[in-house]
Amino acid sequence: MTSTDTTTDTTGATRGGGIGIEDLELAASHHVLDLAQLAEVRGVDPAKYTRGIGLDEMGVVAADEDVVTLGASAAERLLARSGSEGVRTLLFATESGVDHSKSAAVIVHGLLGLPSSVRSVELKQACYAGAAAVQAAIGIVARRPEEKVLVITADVARYGLGSSGEPTQGAGAVAMLIGADPSLVEIEPVSGLYSADVDDFWRPNDSTTAMVNARLSISAYKNALLGAWDDLQEQGGPSAEDIEAFVYHQPFTKMAVKAQQFLAQRSGAELDPEALVQGAVYDRRLGNTYTASLWAGLASLLDHRPGLDGARIGLFSYGSGSAGEMLTGIVRPGYMSSARAGSAVAALDGRVPVTVAEYEQLHENQFGSSEDVETPRVTTAPFRFAGVQGGARVYERNSED
Ligand code: CAA
Repeated sequence: MTSTDTTTDTTGATRGGGIGIEDLELAASHHVLDLAQLAEVRGVDPAKYTRGIGLDEMGVVAADEDVVTLGASAAERLLARSGSEGVRTLLFATESGVDHSKSAAVIVHGLLGLPSSVRSVELKQACYAGAAAVQAAIGIVARRPEEKVLVITADVARYGLGSSGEPTQGAGAVAMLIGADPSLVEIEPVSGLYSADVDDFWRPNDSTTAMVNARLSISAYKNALLGAWDDLQEQGGPSAEDIEAFVYHQPFTKMAVKAQQFLAQRSGAELDPEALVQGAVYDRRLGNTYTASLWAGLASLLDHRPGLDGARIGLFSYGSGSAGEMLTGIVRPGYMSSARAGSAVAALDGRVPVTVAEYEQLHENQFGSSEDVETPRVTTAPFRFAGVQGGARVYERNSED
């Protein structure tokens, strides 16, 4: 089926054909920290983390991992399964890029051995850039339906030790293939948009941890959600009753519960609470993955909710600073795949636990560019960050792979 085989229903949605997500793949960090252990050391009731903010674990990167290695690992598995034929663009969305100038996309392009005829670029707007990358990818495919776009969302979320944001750190990546024959989700043309300049969360160029005005961040998220929702309605998008399940950006999964309450109030619709549980399985274990969080939520929903064939879903992306977008998509029949789900669970289950002391040590372990360094060989992922040589970061295929 091509992008021209479409019909339009009464809400203006295209059904059949259209452009969207052909496949997606999740990658996790080498290490994981059990948040119950962090709670104990910080003198906090573990239920505050598990029930209050809705997180069980937090991904922790090894010294030889970063967004490049996470993104490349997710992309390599994705392309091994779905092929790279037609890929002429690689968009890498991240908050935690490794260089102010050179994009993570170019480095991943090299690690994956993609042909030189692939446009490679990095996008930034806090946690929102993944949705912007998906939209840019759809625009590229709309112009030339024979092309595909590799979108990588990857982040390592870092707050200060002992800060309120500490239990909402995390690490992970989701790679997606965007094309004109989406076997997972067709993204509908109309979306709701919202931008407002607000200092709720940011990271100055000389800081490795995020600054956050926590209370403001919740209200800024709410304003973006409702603003994007109102815009979707003004643009003639579907009503809440026509959307079977919502997935939200989940800095901590309780935020999605709050978001759904805000949306139910605004729309007057009853929204399915079960979808929140089904869409939170991976994020509960990853922690915040910034740009990847929404797409890990989508992977979780697709892997845990049967019967979505042909159904419309809502996808809300929020990036502090701030930008929000409410996308809608039609789930393609046959979307459930045991290969994809098994791969996500294996990535999460395969992580090596660290103690709080080991996590704190890794948290302090940041590599600048002023001196050459060789990182310890830890990760067993396909790619590793080998260290800094002459001010440049060096990556290599992991020989243990
Ligand atoms: N058992 C069960 N629940 C408990 C509990 C216990 N013993 N103790 C507390 N709780 C509950 C509280 O009642 C509260 O629930 P509600 O929000 O439903 O009222 C919840 O746990 C959290 O408690 P606090 O508000 O007291 O927690 P806090 O102030 O220590 O931290 C936070 C919460 C401010 C969100 C913090 O996690 C944080 O700073 N996070 C970083 C900022 C963030 O993620 N903001 C989200 C919007 S911005 C965004 O989305 C972009 C992004 O990715 C960063």
